[in-house]
Amino acid sequence: MSKQISRIKPESRTIYLDDVMETLTRFPTNSIDCIVTSPMYYNDINLGVKGAWGNESSVFEFLSKMRVFQNELLRILKPRGTCFINISDSYAKKNHGSIKKGTKLMVPEQFSSQCVLDGWICENVIEWLKRDAFPTSVQTHLWWNMEPVYFLVKNKQHYFDLQSVKISRIHNTKYVNRRIRDGANGSLTKRFGEKYMASDEEIEKFKQDKRSRGDYTGFNLRYENTKTDKNPGCLLDVTRKKSDMASSHLATFPVKFAEWFIRCGCPQNGIVLDPFMGSGTTALAAENLGRKWIGCELSKNFAKESLNRIGVGKLA
Ligand SMILES: C[S@@+](CC[C@H](N)C(=O)[O-])C[C@H]1O[C@@H](n2cnc3c(N)ncnc32)[C@H](O)[C@@H]1O
Repeated sequence: MSKQISRIKPESRTIYLDDVMETLTRFPTNSIDCIVTSPMYYNDINLGVKGAWGNESSVFEFLSKMRVFQNELLRILKPRGTCFINISDSYAKKNHGSIKKGTKLMVPEQFSSQCVLDGWICENVIEWLKRDAFPTSVQTHLWWNMEPVYFLVKNKQHYFDLQSVKISRIHNTKYVNRRIRDGANGSLTKRFGEKYMASDEEIEKFKQDKRSRGDYTGFNLRYENTKTDKNPGCLLDVTRKKSDMASSHLATFPVKFAEWFIRCGCPQNGIVLDPFMGSGTTALAAENLGRKWIGCELSKNFAKESLNRIGVGKLA
C-alpha cells in the first residue's frame, strides 16, 4: 500500500529542518513561485553534515536522487513559476566501471538532460563566472572558474521580468550629424544648420587637416547619446564580498547572485524556495527585495546561523 502523505501549507520565513525530500513531499502541488538553489555537488566538499547529499557511493546513485528531487520541484512549482539551479561538477576519484579515475563526471550535463527528459523546459544555461573560485595547482587542465545555473520552467508562459536585469549599452554608435568644419568661414551651425549630414563625397573632399583647432577645415561627427538597455546575456559575473561570507558555511552564494534570480524570476508578492538553504543567502536576498521565502536544511547549526544572519524567521 502506498504511503499516505499529509500536505502542509508552507509558511513564509520558515526553515524546515529535515531531509529535503521529507519536506518537499509535504508541500502542496503548484504552490511555489520561484526556486533558487544550489544542491550539494557530488563528491565535492564535505560540510560535516550527517546524511547530507553528495557522498553517495556512485555518481549514478547521486543522479537518481537528483531525479526524484527535480520531479518534486516540478510538482510544487506554480505553472508560471521559475527555477534556477546551480550545480557543478567534480573529477572521478576512482575507476567506476567504464568511468575512469580523473575524468570530469559531467554531472551538470547529465542532471540537466534528465530534467528536460522529465518535462522541464530549459530556458537558459547561465554561466556564473567565479573570479574567486578555488585556485588549482593541477598542470593537466585549466583553472575551473565557471559554474552553470540552469534556468528551468514548467511552461513557456512563465513569469520573467527581463527589464529588472537589463544592462546599459556601453557604446553609442549612431551619429546624427556630420558637419563640415570650416575654420576660415565661421560658424558651422549658421552655414549648415544643426543637423547637417555631410555626404561621403564632401567628407572625401575636405580631409581634416592638422592646423590649430581654431582654423582647420574638416569634419565633426556628432554622436547621439542614446541610453538604451540590453538583454544581459548568459554570463553572470558576480564575485563574493566579505559580507557574503559572514557565516561558517563553506559553500555560500553571493547575496547579489541570489538577488539577480529573484528579481527577474519572482513576482512582487511571490514566494521563493531554497531547498538547500545553507547559510540563508536566498532568504536574505528575498528579504532585501521584499519577497516571501521558505527554506529546507538538514543541519540545525546552519539553520540557526541562517536565522541570525537573516534577522527574522523560525525553524519548523
Ligand atoms: C551548497 S550548500 C547551499 C549553500 C547556500 N546556497 C548558501 O548560500 O549558503 C548545500 C546545503 O544543503 C544542505 N543539505 C545537504 N543535504 C541535504 C539534505 N538531504 N536535505 C536538506 N539539506 C541538505 C547542506 O547542509 C548545505 O548547507
